[in-house]
Order: sequence, then structure tokens, then C-alpha cells
Amino acid sequence: MTTHHQHEIIIVGGGGAGLMAALYASRGADTAVISKLYPSRSHTGAAQGGIGAALGNLEDDRAEWHAFDTIKGSDYLGDQDAIEFMCNQAVPIVYELENMGLPFSRTKQGRIAQRPFGGHTNNETKKPVTRAAYAADRTGHMILQTLYQQCIRNKVHFYDEYQVLDVVIENGRAAGVVAWELATGELHTFHAKAVIFATGGYGRVWEVTSNAYAYTGDGLAIVSRRGIPLQDMEFFQFHPTGIRKLGILITEGVRGEGGVLINNDGERFMERYAKTVKDLASRDVVSRAIYLELQGGRGINGENYVLLDVRPETVNKFAELDGRTFPDGRPFRVDREMILKKLPDIIDFCRTYLGIDPLESPMPVQPTAHYAMGGIPTNINAEVVIDENNHVLPGLYAAGETACVSVHGANRLGTNSLLDIVVFGKQAGKHAADFAQHNDFPTFPADAADAARAEVNRLLGNKPVEPAADIAKEMKAIMSKDVGVFRTEEGMSEALKAVRALKERYRKNVGVADQSDVFNTDLINTWELGCLLDAAEVTAASALARRESRGAHSREDYPKRDDENWLKHTLAWRKDGDIKLGYKEVNVSKYEPKERVY
Ligand code: FUM
Repeated sequence: MTTHHQHEIIIVGGGGAGLMAALYASRGADTAVISKLYPSRSHTGAAQGGIGAALGNLEDDRAEWHAFDTIKGSDYLGDQDAIEFMCNQAVPIVYELENMGLPFSRTKQGRIAQRPFGGHTNNETKKPVTRAAYAADRTGHMILQTLYQQCIRNKVHFYDEYQVLDVVIENGRAAGVVAWELATGELHTFHAKAVIFATGGYGRVWEVTSNAYAYTGDGLAIVSRRGIPLQDMEFFQFHPTGIRKLGILITEGVRGEGGVLINNDGERFMERYAKTVKDLASRDVVSRAIYLELQGGRGINGENYVLLDVRPETVNKFAELDGRTFPDGRPFRVDREMILKKLPDIIDFCRTYLGIDPLESPMPVQPTAHYAMGGIPTNINAEVVIDENNHVLPGLYAAGETACVSVHGANRLGTNSLLDIVVFGKQAGKHAADFAQHNDFPTFPADAADAARAEVNRLLGNKPVEPAADIAKEMKAIMSKDVGVFRTEEGMSEALKAVRALKERYRKNVGVADQSDVFNTDLINTWELGCLLDAAEVTAASALARRESRGAHSREDYPKRDDENWLKHTLAWRKDGDIKLGYKEVNVSKYEPKERVY
């Protein structure tokens, strides 16, 4: 049985981007959010250290500097018009969140508190600037709760624990989605004037990741199976500081508060890699530096990790050596209470998961797969664009990590993801509402649910010859080895071949043991693995083709950035069982690409 619903706007995903979109869409149209989780459990809740905005609450700062830092951080692949738009929106949107009730931490004067973060600088002195507006180390959690409450207040409809399986595109226009209700195993069709994808990233492709179990690239797989290209998928960010082996995020805010990275020789090695900003260089630079330390045999006890030290005595020693001051000119010194107040969750995670108290001992960390810079191509209005000339697919929108506007280019600066989700979530909601007001419901095909039903039946009917978990394990191992921080032609070719073989095994050999209708998580996890394999394939194929190093895409065989041939966005289409690549221009409206020095 299939139940049919109709709402003017359907939003797929209940994280920060989806909720901000819902809030704005619901001001002008009947809006529903479909989420595979309860929205307040979405991965936005894992974002810790802050949201970037040049509020200048502690020292001089400007939106223009924020934009330049973001362009430089993107290794010049970010679209400069989109980046300027985002950074100009940052200050008003943070005040908007404050007015919604978001409990930001405060300065002594009662203003929103801010801290330094990697790659954010005073463009004149080149020193780190306090730009990350924060709520202790749970900024994403606070954004999520605040937006959810506002959506409830605005009477947004929520379909919680529904897994969207397909998007309906009819006569070249988005017409709705098909979803599986976890509680009942029933299929539902949703007819809409506009559909917004806000389904997050796909870090679960790698072994060690900061991403939630739910981050399986569903939205990417769904739209690309319907002929929409994915943009810049070769750029996947490894955050330098995940808890060793577990991958759980240790916020860059730790380094913002003075924490330093230390190798087995007791050396603060970032001094060698980024002379000016040291531990606060951009993430691609710091993650590569950690790998080079490990390759050089300077991992702790010869193993694959380094230490992150935020003990007050260490912080104060290096702050003194650096001559670091607070923005008001006082020497930068911290004590236990200050660290505890600013980083309570980090202290708690380490005590809980490692039995280590960061106030007493340094934390063991390693780079962790963190963020997809690539995704569904969109323009500044969050409309999905489907070719090299940026033609729009009417009625289809995307925002947040699943989208590629592109404001992060080849490498995202910390704090810009929270900014991205609210700025472009708002754009998606506003523009979708406007579209809904000016357009009738499109035709909805009678057979809309057929493809989703066939795939569910295939998975349920397949004889389980090998466990999905084994295929997932192999995919993670291959992608971590060959499509991680450092890459080569040989490694990526092997990875692509191996992922394709895994896809074949997945199709033939993987079935679902649990045949029940009620909360069949076996079925959903197996379906999600299909999405992860698609994401792994398109990432490897896009990366293999790009013969240069830029941002997070670091090739040992092509170690230099090559603007002459590669200052362009990749578009990857899934076609006839293969990946077809195309390229489109980067918007370079203000700053010509330069060498990046930190
Ligand atoms: O380090 C962090 O707090 C992560 C923030 C981000 O990814 O923007």
C-alpha cells in the first residue's frame, strides 16, 4: 500500500539547513520536512566550535576579510560571488539567530563571544582574528535546537523517521519524493511544487570519520541516479583532530583557545608548516602536516597519531613564546576554569571515551573524514543547476553540506559550514516559497513509487550471500588508503576499480535477513550502503581525473596547483553504469589566484 500526501514544499533532511529552509518556506507556503531521524538528532548537533561572522565583538574585523580568507582557504576554487554573498550575510544572520533565542556564550560586556579559528585572519596583520561566534563547544547543537523550536512554532509539518528513497522529476520539473516509513515499512509518495534537499554529507565512506552513522550520502545518490550531476566530489575534507581511532571531532576551537599539536619528539611541529598562524592554519594544511609527521616516524610511540595539548601550562608556555595577547592587549593566559567553561563537551568526550582528562593529559588525535566540499550543484538562490551553463532544474533546491554553491571550493574553513547551512538554508526556503506562490502543482505520475518499490523488493528478495557490513568495511579500507589525504594515479585507479567490484558484489550478493516491516533498520542500512558506494565511486572518479593538487585534493604525483588547466569545477554525471565528467567555470570576480601562505 502507498499513502499519498501533498504539500507545497517538501524538505528532505531535518538538520540545520533543512530547518532554516523550513522556517523560511513556511512563512510563504505549506511546508513539510521529511527526516530519517528526529530532527533534533541531526548531525548539525555535532558541530562544535562556532559560526563564522565578522561581528568584531572583541577586535576589528570585516566581512571583506572573512570573504578573502574563505577564498584563499578554498584554494581559489570557491565561487567568489557566492562567498561574498555568504560573508556579507554572516553578521545579520548571527544576530537573527540570537534574536530567535540561541544561547551564545558572552563576552564580559554581554556581547556574543568569539574565538579564533583556522584560516580566519586580520588581513592587515595576517594574525588570527576572533571571528567564530560560539555557544561553548556545542554551537551546532544550539543552532539545531533553536531552529527546531522555531519550526514547531511556525507549524511546519514533520515526517520523522521516514527514509526518502527517490525524487520525482516530471517534464523537467521536480514534483515530489518517495519515502519509506521506518515504523511501518509503508511507502509514501509526496507531491510538491518544490523540493529542497538538505541531506548532509557522506563521511561514512571512510574508516575514521567525525560523521554520524546517518551521513551516508543519500541525497547525492538519489539525485544523481535521476541524471543530475554532482560537483567537485574529489574535495573531501579531513579535519586534523579527531579522537584517535574513533574519529569523534575535537573542535578546532581547542586550538583557538591556545591548544597546540605535538609530535613524538615533543615538538610543536606546526611552527615548521605555517610560520605565521601555526596551529591555526587551514585544515588541509594541518591535516597534511600531521600525515607528514606520521610518515616521518614522529607519530606518538611510532603509531598513527599525534597529541593535542590544551593543558593550561602548555597553552600559557606557547602563548608566552608567541607573544600572544587577548584582543584587548592583555597577555594571553588561561586557567583550568576558563578551559572547562569554553570546552565542556570536549573535556567530557575525552573523559568518557578515552578515560583521559584533557586538563591533565594531552589528547591523542588523528585526521578524521569530516566534510564534503562537493555536492549537488546550486546557484546563490539554492536552485539546483544541472549543466556547465548553470541551467536550473525548476522546483529543485539544495542547501547545506549536500549542496555545492560553491562557497568552500577545494577546502572549507572551520565555522563556515554552520554559516553555509543558515545562509543557504534561508535562500532555499525563501526562493522555494516564492516559486510555490507563482506555480501550480506539477503533474504527479501514477507510477512514481515503482522504482523505489522495485529496489526495496530487490533488496528484500536477494539471497544474502555476503553481509553488507563486509562490503562496507572493504570500501572504507580502500577509500582510506587510496582516496584519503594523499593520493596518486595508481592508488586512485585501483580504488576506483575496487569500488566498482564492490558495487557489483553489493548488487549480486547482498540481501536483507530481516524481512519484517517494522523498523527494518537492516533494510535501510543496506540501502544506505548503496548510496555510500555511489558516493565513493564518484569521489574516486572525479579525483583520478584532476591532475593537480588543490586544497584537500593532494596528489603526490602532481604536487602543484595548476590554475592554467584546473581552475575549474568538476561535474560528474552517472550515465549508463559509468561516470561521465564535465567541467565548468569558477567565478573569479575579485581576487586573482595567488600562492597560499599561512
Ligand atoms: O572544529 C570544529 O569545531 C568544527 C567546525 C566546523 O567543521 O566548521
